[in-house]
Amino acid sequence: MQFELTEEQISVKEAARDFTQQELLPGVIDRDRQMLHPTEQVKKMGEMGFLGMMVSPEYGGGGMDTLSYVLAMEEISKVDSSSSVIMSVNNSLVCWGIEEYGTEEQKQKYLPLLASGEWIGSFCLSEPEAGSDATSQRTTAVDMGDYYLLNGTKNWITNGGKSSLHVVIAQTHQEKGHRGINVLIVETSWSGVTIGAKEDKLGIRASDTHTIMYTDVKVPKSNRIGNDGFGFKFAMKVLSGGRIGIAAQALGIAAGAYELAVKYSKEREAFGKPISQHQAIAFKLADMATEIEAARLLVYRAAWMKDQGMDYTSSAAMAKLFASEVAMKHTVEAVQIHGGYGYVKEYHVERLMRDAKITQIYEGTSEMQRIVISRNILSGQLYEPIWKTETV
Ligand code: CAA
Repeated sequence: MQFELTEEQISVKEAARDFTQQELLPGVIDRDRQMLHPTEQVKKMGEMGFLGMMVSPEYGGGGMDTLSYVLAMEEISKVDSSSSVIMSVNNSLVCWGIEEYGTEEQKQKYLPLLASGEWIGSFCLSEPEAGSDATSQRTTAVDMGDYYLLNGTKNWITNGGKSSLHVVIAQTHQEKGHRGINVLIVETSWSGVTIGAKEDKLGIRASDTHTIMYTDVKVPKSNRIGNDGFGFKFAMKVLSGGRIGIAAQALGIAAGAYELAVKYSKEREAFGKPISQHQAIAFKLADMATEIEAARLLVYRAAWMKDQGMDYTSSAAMAKLFASEVAMKHTVEAVQIHGGYGYVKEYHVERLMRDAKITQIYEGTSEMQRIVISRNILSGQLYEPIWKTETV
């Protein structure tokens, strides 16, 4: 078992940390307060290669492994999860899906634009009445011969007002259920694409989240990804990889709050000594460090399994489930350690606490991760039957 990072992975981590300190930390509180999209910062992320990290160099990407991507996500999320979710959706849900399942023409046309950050992508699955129950798609893609006619509404779309390309999941053959769903690449400049209301969110407030409406949008057949009816499987496969990215985001949020809590508790004095020297605080720090490290092992392992070509569905779900719960629990603890200071908006820690919550909701709620994991247990995975009888 190998626990050391390669030199390349260490330099990716350091580059992400330096970039975060220099480009993302300045103004992060203001952008959150005013819901200001980090447009300039995202442009620089594209120039640095953070928006197409796993895309092959032949399509303009960094050609890196999933673990390098996770390390960058973790570092950026310690400070700015609004920026890291933009990066996560573009890398995992948009670029990866197109490269893995798209045609050569689709890859050549779209990946260089997306990997460089010239274009940003959105993943459009959720609907007013199809969130966790992703098979209940109401958006329709009617087969018109050489094009699909797309109609419907998508909700809570990350990058919604800023993206040039949508990966849209839509129903073509209602009677076939999830096997009748397709996935289409839609350019947002096309007639019939309307950007709806912007969401005023609890956390990740600088990321741009919108409702999107499609009205008689003509999508060429050549923009369908995979065979007719592949859309639901595409969404599930892409989301499994996406969950590793969100797990890394949750890990970064937890680690960022932990680092703030350690720093503050060593500086703040009460009853004649730094509060870190009171067991009430020291034990909290010990629990934080232990559980964050456990989350890190799950996240890195899921990334490693993906890189090895192994089935990572359960591992990704476990990593997201655990890391997001650790993020929520320990950002609350970090606020508690900061006392009154933790509750005011000029301290980073309250923002990290608000940002943590979304990691338990998007790309599948914690409940959906438990469904994925428990189904894998019941189908015979994640279980080694060593007991022949229950009793002696
Ligand atoms: N890989 C490949 N195929 C898969 C799969 C996977 N990981 N998971 C399921 N499938 C296949 C199944 O094999 C099945 O295919 P067959 O019938 O041909 O055998 C088909 O998909 C249907 O599977 P299920 O019966 O298990 O489907 P279900 O309706 O019971 O749903 C679910 C399963 C896990 C709950 C799924 O609906 C789900 O993941 N829901 C959550 C949706 C979600 O994550 N939404 C996030 C929105 S995107 C977002 O948040 C992005 C953002 O902006 C940040």
